[in-house]
Amino acid sequence: MTQAQAEVQGIFAEVTRYPLDVLDPNAHLEEDLGIDSVKLGEVFSVLRERFSLPAELGVPREQLTSIAAVTAAIASVTGKGGSASVVAPVAAPIPAPVTAAPPATVAPASGQAATGATLLSGDTESQLIALVAEVTRYPVDVLDPVADLEEDLGIDSVKLGEVFSVVRERYGVPTTLDTPRSEMRTLRDVARVLQPYMRLPGERADTLAPVAPRPATAVSPATRTAAAPPPHRPFEGKVLFVSGSGRGLGHDIATYLADLGASVVVNSFHSRPQGEQTAQEIRDRGGDALHLWGSMANPEHVDRIFDEIEARYHGLDFLVANASNGMLARLKDITAKDWEKAYRTNVVGLHQCALRAVPLMRTRGGGKIITLSSPAAHGYVDYFGCMGTVKAAVESLTKSMAIEFAPDNIQVNCVSPGPIYGELLQKWPESERLIRQWEDNTAYSRLCESRDVSHFIAYLLSEPVKLFTGSVLVLDGGISSQGW
Ligand SMILES: NC(=O)c1ccc[n+]([C@@H]2O[C@H](COP(=O)([O-])OP(=O)(O)OC[C@H]3O[C@@H](n4cnc5c(N)ncnc54)[C@H](OP(=O)(O)O)[C@@H]3O)[C@@H](O)[C@H]2O)c1
Repeated sequence: MTQAQAEVQGIFAEVTRYPLDVLDPNAHLEEDLGIDSVKLGEVFSVLRERFSLPAELGVPREQLTSIAAVTAAIASVTGKGGSASVVAPVAAPIPAPVTAAPPATVAPASGQAATGATLLSGDTESQLIALVAEVTRYPVDVLDPVADLEEDLGIDSVKLGEVFSVVRERYGVPTTLDTPRSEMRTLRDVARVLQPYMRLPGERADTLAPVAPRPATAVSPATRTAAAPPPHRPFEGKVLFVSGSGRGLGHDIATYLADLGASVVVNSFHSRPQGEQTAQEIRDRGGDALHLWGSMANPEHVDRIFDEIEARYHGLDFLVANASNGMLARLKDITAKDWEKAYRTNVVGLHQCALRAVPLMRTRGGGKIITLSSPAAHGYVDYFGCMGTVKAAVESLTKSMAIEFAPDNIQVNCVSPGPIYGELLQKWPESERLIRQWEDNTAYSRLCESRDVSHFIAYLLSEPVKLFTGSVLVLDGGISSQGW
């Protein structure tokens, strides 16, 4: 390995917190390592500083598929073999993935000087601009704080949704904010709304960590009340694997069932720090948890994970196949690659996991598998053309598994929740309009919360529930009866 490649690999390791030996320079960043475009943006903000790179590398994103490819791109820009120690003095400590951009790099608003007076207190605006630059890959100086997001900057609701999902993850911003989207026309407007949550490093120590402490997954006061650990532990001695449980619904299922006594194997792929954090959170609450990193879409990763479960626990009682990755888009925008990724993660990954789970469950005299679908698998829902089709396959596979695994006393059921408040809904194109529409179309004027689903899964996994198998259990507040 060249010196430049080793330096680039070191920066990937520091930003992602992956061990160096996982970061094979030729591995595919997204497929093999779970380093998606947002995380790559974080890596690039450090690479830019270390290698004195321009804002635009001039290399198409599609070509930056591995550490080796990133190193080559840097070398082509610097023309000096891409070694930071040759090109630029190594800067002081690597900044956390999101820190405030130095004021000098923040463009002043048109016609205004970038004085302290024009920026919000705590410089939330600078932090936000740095973060938006990472997510959108816009050069910082294009991001005029008073420009209209959509009209002047081309930052539409989808792109803004991506920004909000990163802000939420890092700063613990609630899922729903009181300010309507229509009042957030500029970055300055958005910064004003986010100011109570975003703090500069030093103002609040936890902002230095890549992921801020997790907020309650759902937002209503009812959920917060329900989050207190339950008094009994019916799953004591049971071992549970929840795929994709570093964040979102998977996180809630893992922590809820851990509170009920289960030993939980947490899994993450793109969100490794959150996976580790989830396992730590369970241990901090007195539970037993192990975090295993890897992709459900990669059979070798699945094998490694199950080898480790076998080595540690010698058996498995429950599998909750929660991991999912798919494109939310209209059919015209869905590519063959999107289909392939969605199918491989949701369907092939489920099958491969289940095949490894069965022998481990057999050693325990049986087990239970829960799969996750959506009622939108059975009718038209905006932007769900790919995922609805893939989830229909999950339901079908659930039924086949229920019959073929029955001789081993393994029950397989599918839980099909309606839209759940949280990260995924915020990523939905036109999320504001659709969430309002969906709320109106439920019988109770509210959507599911993660806790509704976790509670229902706990019921299905409980000892007395034996006869259910091959069922698709809909939990949607009546939305599919009334029509989306
Ligand atoms: N949210 C809803 O409205 C809703 C409604 C009905 C059903 N569901 C279903 O419920 C499940 C969880 O939903 P969610 O809202 O939490 O979804 P989400 O926000 O999209 O999260 C997906 C989860 O899957 C993980 N994941 C993605 N690719 C993976 C891979 N290759 N290997 C391992 N894990 C992977 C992600 O973790 P990493 O980032 O670590 O990869 C994340 O934990 C999904 O099956 C979803 O389809 C959700």
